[in-house]
Amino acid sequence: MSIHDTARPADLPSGPDELHTIGPDRQTFDALARWVPEYGDLFCVQSRDRRDPSFVVSNPGYIRQILLTNHENYAKGVGFERVKMLLGNGIIVSDGEEWRRQRTMMQPGFSRANIARLSEPMRAMNLALREPWSRLADGGEVLDITTAMSRLGLEVILRSIFSSDLDRIIGREGGNPFAFLAEDATRDLQTAVRFRNLARVILGVVGERRQSGERPFDFLSLLMDARDRKTGAGMTDKELLDEINTLIIAGHETSAGTLNWAWYLLGRHPDVEARLLAELAERTPGDAFSFDQLMDLNYAACVLKETLRLYPPVWLFSRRALKEDRLGDFPVPAGAHIFIAPYFLHRRPELWPDPERFDPDRFDEARNPPVDRYAFIPFSAGARRCIGEYFSFVEMQMHLALLAPRFALRFAPGMPAPAVELEPAVNLRTRHNIHLTIRHRSAA
Ligand code: HEM
Repeated sequence: MSIHDTARPADLPSGPDELHTIGPDRQTFDALARWVPEYGDLFCVQSRDRRDPSFVVSNPGYIRQILLTNHENYAKGVGFERVKMLLGNGIIVSDGEEWRRQRTMMQPGFSRANIARLSEPMRAMNLALREPWSRLADGGEVLDITTAMSRLGLEVILRSIFSSDLDRIIGREGGNPFAFLAEDATRDLQTAVRFRNLARVILGVVGERRQSGERPFDFLSLLMDARDRKTGAGMTDKELLDEINTLIIAGHETSAGTLNWAWYLLGRHPDVEARLLAELAERTPGDAFSFDQLMDLNYAACVLKETLRLYPPVWLFSRRALKEDRLGDFPVPAGAHIFIAPYFLHRRPELWPDPERFDPDRFDEARNPPVDRYAFIPFSAGARRCIGEYFSFVEMQMHLALLAPRFALRFAPGMPAPAVELEPAVNLRTRHNIHLTIRHRSAA
């Protein structure tokens, strides 16, 4: 088939007649909002500038096949070029043996014991937010929660990577050279160049640690000490740099975005908020609760999962079929582009009754049957599932446990809670920052 011959071969699944190039953009978001309800589990989209057909997959069984049982047949797909500009060949973009080696070396760093240790600096960072938030609350002022969460998310990942060296970096550079990442949501070429220029800063710390042999407890030390099981070799500087960059980018926007949406949803659902506060009062009283107590927060976890169902930061991701496969009755030709859109999967009424309703109890297994694992994939699934999932729950639960009992964040009094406009890019964001009135809980 030539590039311009877009007639649909008979054995491909049906789909829209119009041509469309699927990507992480507004046009695709709007088109999928129409097509997923209309065509359901699997449909095919032809495009003027892609020779191979694009399959949009929203059936949990097929998703399981692509991400788990036959994942070796599916490499990372289109859309990752832009990510590559930022992240070189870090594990989010690499494939095959290279990915497997790096993932195997990195995985132990994300153990429960390590994350439990990293949760202590997270506690300190959240406690430090109380003073500025208190000052705003004293005057009943408005908080730009989007920016606040972005800054917190960035600080959490940077301190988890560099620990006390972050202060050295800030001192030496006359400010935090990474700070622009929390302020500037655009990921254009200019940002990419600026970000890549931070290599000097990161490699500077790596060099100092190699020379001194110092290994403070943080992700950087864990990665520097990681060894390939077969060869005993550690990571080269270039590999370390790409993986550190990957953790910074993959690790800050996603959890920050989720907390942004969580505050927004709590502001609109006082009933949910009341149950959350009751759980926090019972299970994580005071500021010195243990890690086990924190991870015993069942309702808080349900609130976060329901937030991720409605607003998955990674709303669309792609794969490329290496060899031919079959999804149900349909052959998948080698080279086919595969698109999985958690945002639309998570809103299929066949899988999620009353899908637009914010209802954390969906995830409470004591009240409802467990949800299909492949109908809920904010972290993807299978071998390439997010490495930071547990870390992000620790980070987000810590934030809610320390801030939610103190502060009430509400939409301006007397105003209906506004519907928020979405900005679907590589991550799903709010088009405009969310501003909420902040009050002391005692006075709320
Ligand atoms: C709410 C928070 C988060 C969400 C929703 C999220 C989502 C995802 C998704 C959907 C993928 C898979 C993409 C694909 O298969 O194409 C992924 C991969 C990844 N995430 Fe996350 N993520 C979150 C937090 C984090 C954090 C905190 C870190 C680091 C500390 C992190 C690091 C990574 C890495 C390194 C990968 C690549 C894994 C691999 O390919 O082996 N993520 N994430």
